[in-house]
Amino acid sequence: TGRFTYDSGFTATASCKSAITYIDGDEGVLLYRGYPIEQLAEHSNFLEVAYLLMNGELPDAKQFASFEHDVTHHTMMHEAFKSFIGGFRHDAHPMAMLVGMLGSMASFYHNDLDYDDPEQRRLAGIRLIAKLPTIAAACYRYSMGWPLSYPRNELGYVERFLHMMFELPSGPLELSPVAAKAMDLLFILHADHEQNASTSTVRLVGSTGANPYACIASGVAALWGPAHGGANEAVLKMLAEIGDVKNVQSAVDRAKDKESGFRLMGFGHRVYKNFDPRAKIIREMTHKVLGELGIDDPMLDIAMRLEEAALKDDYFVQRKLYPNVDFYSGIIYKALKIPTEMFTVMFAIARTAGWVSHWLEQQEDPEFKIGRPRQIYTGAESRDYMATDKR
Ligand code: CMC
Repeated sequence: TGRFTYDSGFTATASCKSAITYIDGDEGVLLYRGYPIEQLAEHSNFLEVAYLLMNGELPDAKQFASFEHDVTHHTMMHEAFKSFIGGFRHDAHPMAMLVGMLGSMASFYHNDLDYDDPEQRRLAGIRLIAKLPTIAAACYRYSMGWPLSYPRNELGYVERFLHMMFELPSGPLELSPVAAKAMDLLFILHADHEQNASTSTVRLVGSTGANPYACIASGVAALWGPAHGGANEAVLKMLAEIGDVKNVQSAVDRAKDKESGFRLMGFGHRVYKNFDPRAKIIREMTHKVLGELGIDDPMLDIAMRLEEAALKDDYFVQRKLYPNVDFYSGIIYKALKIPTEMFTVMFAIARTAGWVSHWLEQQEDPEFKIGRPRQIYTGAESRDYMATDKR
């Protein structure tokens, strides 16, 4: 391989130093800034976790109030977004809309910022965390043909988002605290995961000095794929296709057959060779949320049987394939009436906290260099051009 180490898919290469998130994939450990994900899931809230990821420490009451104030006061979109969103086809996938809208944010909020100034960088991060839910809700409402709704600043982050999604002129939205809590928890669990494909993409784009909106738009694009954030949407489609617990074993058999091209979505992980600690929390939460909302969803039975069948199958045991974060998250989102196409958008809202934190960390890294991987060339040797009639 000549002068370079070949590492397809970066299975053994660290691309940066980072103090944000720690994963021990063999033991199933996940820490944000040193705090176990289980403790954050139990005691914290998404906005506090976003502060922690961005700043390195949990906020005291004053710091939190000031952060919440900043986020709340940047939730509105520029009015011109309305005509922008109106240009999409009525049936556009919301992730396509999100990539486009985020990329366009630079045209609204970029020129006045000087990214050499840490305060201006922080402000860009706040804008992204604040506006993502507003943009996401606008995508959904546009697909439904509903008038867009404005953020209500008297509400908390998650409640405000749910209002923007579902409120109708016919009357106030009755928001279940169980739903808001469940969504907040999913946002905490999805907030960061060190150098996953989308975060690495954000850093690679960030390494060129591109503006933060362009960086996060590239992260959203990377997240969209079914091997990454698109898996939560793919899981629900898979469960719907399986359709009945009696078909579970044949789905497991098909996933073992490489010829079939079918994988169990929501199973396996590049880093975790043990239970994904997020999946454990979500599994418990799924039962609780469905119970409290009085929902009896056959998808949950199919998912549980599928997990059980896979976990005792040699193929999955030998390869250390366990359910990952996306296996159960879709079932909760479905219970919260979030349409399937919006699942990956939910992931993007939460992961924005992580992407922004990595971008901020990178901009302050004294070893910061443009990302420029090398390759192993496998093409033709040098040869002479031939005129068309000689080929
Ligand atoms: N179903 C069946 N077989 C699988 C699966 C699966 N879900 N995942 C991995 N394998 C097999 C794979 O065929 C390979 O077998 P062999 O060694 O015989 O060739 C072995 O397990 C190792 O898999 P790999 O593809 O080399 O592992 P990877 O680290 O490159 O891929 C992954 C990790 C997550 C892309 C993969 O497990 C996968 O495609 N899972 C399904 C999609 C999914 O749930 N993605 C969400 C990931 S977690 C959240 C996120 O990042 O957004």
